[in-house]
Amino acid sequence: MRSLRSLALLSSLFGGLGLCAGQAQTAKLAATPPMGWNSWNHFAGRVTDKDIRDTADQIVSTGMRDAGYIYVNIDDTWEAGRDAQGNILTNEKFPDMKALAAYVHSKGLKIGIYSSPGPKTCAGFEGSYQHEEQDAKTYADWGIDYLKYDLCGYRDIMDKEAGKDQDKAYAMMHAAYAKMDKALKATGRPIVFSLCQYGWDSVWKWGPTVDGNLWRTTGDIDDSYRRMEEIGFSQAGLSKYAGPGHWNDPDMLEVGNGKMTTDEYTTHMTLWALLAAPLLAGNDLTRMSPADKAILMNKDVIAIDQDALGRQGDRVSADGPFEVWTKPLKDGSVAVGLFNCGEDTEAMALPAASALGLKSVKSIRNVWSPGNTTKGPWLVSGHSVELLIVR
Ligand code: GLA
Repeated sequence: MRSLRSLALLSSLFGGLGLCAGQAQTAKLAATPPMGWNSWNHFAGRVTDKDIRDTADQIVSTGMRDAGYIYVNIDDTWEAGRDAQGNILTNEKFPDMKALAAYVHSKGLKIGIYSSPGPKTCAGFEGSYQHEEQDAKTYADWGIDYLKYDLCGYRDIMDKEAGKDQDKAYAMMHAAYAKMDKALKATGRPIVFSLCQYGWDSVWKWGPTVDGNLWRTTGDIDDSYRRMEEIGFSQAGLSKYAGPGHWNDPDMLEVGNGKMTTDEYTTHMTLWALLAAPLLAGNDLTRMSPADKAILMNKDVIAIDQDALGRQGDRVSADGPFEVWTKPLKDGSVAVGLFNCGEDTEAMALPAASALGLKSVKSIRNVWSPGNTTKGPWLVSGHSVELLIVR
């Protein structure tokens, strides 16, 4: 998958370094779930060039870049119309996209952008319909490293041309994503391809056929425990569809946006890490509380998400409001989340070793409370979680 783009990446990355082809072939776009930041959850339609520059500065100064947050992604509302030759134009909020990309790159970061296969994006801005190749070339020329491609306006085209024929509509949707995949590859620039069509037609089954590096599995998240919980726990059963280069995407992080408690954001981050989900922060990095920083930059949690085995975690049990999820890790240990989705504090114990895929339990490390060395049961508050690494 992604062969031409990967090759271009390899030659650009390793061409001058004298690495042999065998070594180079092991590199892969999105080999681990993409990490970075996206403008939508906090800035939505207000995002500007300055916000992106400030974010790039903050990603570096807070230590987020060094923790793995590399992509700075501009979501919807950067687009204007097209010039006489059909080239996409940026609006007044983004006076010079090429210069902005250069600035982000100068910080050791990568930059992402957003479009739609439809004539219009979700926010009603210009989409890529009938300009796919031209837009892909423009992105490559600007130095873009990541494209989130959001179905939105293309639904009108599907309605118009397929009516109630759902098979036809879905075939059109697949073709629209395949078209942009081809256009991106033709540029020769490695560009992460992020599918956003809310999981329609079980995207996890066909996403690999259009070389999606990640695909949204649900509708939009919002900054509420109820929605985060609904999306996160609905991912049960999808683990077999994810792996290096192609990830299920339950939408971006809300950590730090202010409407959930610290325990709830901790649950959010824990669940996303167990899901090997892309970790795209969605908060205003210029005003992060120490608690938000501690959640977003916990090295052990990030390591679980980014584990080289590339296995998504899954649900082991659900008993009323109590859920246990596990994620196997490369070194043979298992990350275990004991989630209490209820309101009251309850004692939760580790399931039997066999349920964790282990012969026996030799050691337990508590990720969020390293000082807590008990072997359980643990008292887990309502809307909270205990995250353990068990070997
Ligand atoms: C859709 C997507 C969101 C965001 C908005 C932008 O709703 O699912 O993630 O990109 O469009 O308009």
